[in-house]
Amino acid sequence: MSALTQALKPSLNKIAFITGGGQGIGRAIALRLAKDGYDISIGDIPSQKAKVNEVLNVVKDEFGRDGLSVDVDVRDPKQIYAAIDETVSKLGSRLFISVANAGVTQVKPLLECTPEFIENEVRINLLGLMNTHIAAAKQMVKQGSGGRIVGAGSIASYRTAENLGPYGATKFAVRGFTEVAAKEWAQYGIRVNAYGPGIVDTPMWDHIDRELASIEGISVGEAKALRVKKDVKLGRIQEPEDVAKLVSFLVSDEGEYITGQTIKSCGGASL
Ligand SMILES: NC(=O)c1ccc[n+]([C@@H]2O[C@H](COP(=O)([O-])OP(=O)(O)OC[C@H]3O[C@@H](n4cnc5c(N)ncnc54)[C@H](O)[C@@H]3O)[C@@H](O)[C@H]2O)c1
Repeated sequence: MSALTQALKPSLNKIAFITGGGQGIGRAIALRLAKDGYDISIGDIPSQKAKVNEVLNVVKDEFGRDGLSVDVDVRDPKQIYAAIDETVSKLGSRLFISVANAGVTQVKPLLECTPEFIENEVRINLLGLMNTHIAAAKQMVKQGSGGRIVGAGSIASYRTAENLGPYGATKFAVRGFTEVAAKEWAQYGIRVNAYGPGIVDTPMWDHIDRELASIEGISVGEAKALRVKKDVKLGRIQEPEDVAKLVSFLVSDEGEYITGQTIKSCGGASL
């Protein structure tokens, strides 16, 4: 047995489904849950296929888990249900974790937000999450062995920021939905929580930085650096792996008494 194989945790024979796992936080969650012993199904938009495949290569080669890539645009509920169906038909009826991570951030002052702009944000960040949670819970209830459902909240689930109005509204709503889903599904052994990161070093924050730089008339990189310096008490930007650690804990037996929570993990940025 190689040193790597010896160091690996045994397979848990359970599946984790993660939306938006091609990059950023979703990628880190997929890899962490593979390390923890889960087989991994990643749902992302078709243009992310190459990135998803790269993540799944690590899932298989480094952690020895099964991996599956499913195309899904979370704006379309039919595609979400099809992605869950494809996951269980190809990997088995053992879905235990679903992480509704897919999200977008658009940056504009409210007076410049068109109806189309707002609708896109709501369809991905909120409707996509609600439909992913429900589709996964239906499968878990059918299987009868409980489950863990996790969603992408944010520190914006507690405090919104200028120029990120519709985003903050969707993340506030994620917090509300997390509470009610936890109440309704506790009877099935399903715990529901959300992570609430601050400023995570992902392509999403590179995008926010570029947009804020143009609105505020500063140079690219400055908006992010200024906010990290001013707001993050622990003195460094958050890495996607910091969020993955929280998810790993929430779905584990160590988190057995936690449900309905949107947990801020932001280095003190919300204080
Ligand atoms: N980066 C941060 O600082 C931060 C902070 C708080 C919360 N979050 C939340 O965490 C989640 C992940 O953020 P990230 O920084 O990794 O973002 P990211 O932009 O780096 O990655 C988002 C992923 O979601 C996928 N996606 C986008 N639209 C989709 C759709 N319609 N259907 C399916 N997949 C879609 C993308 O292809 C991508 O793989 C988001 O919900 C985000 O709001 C991020």
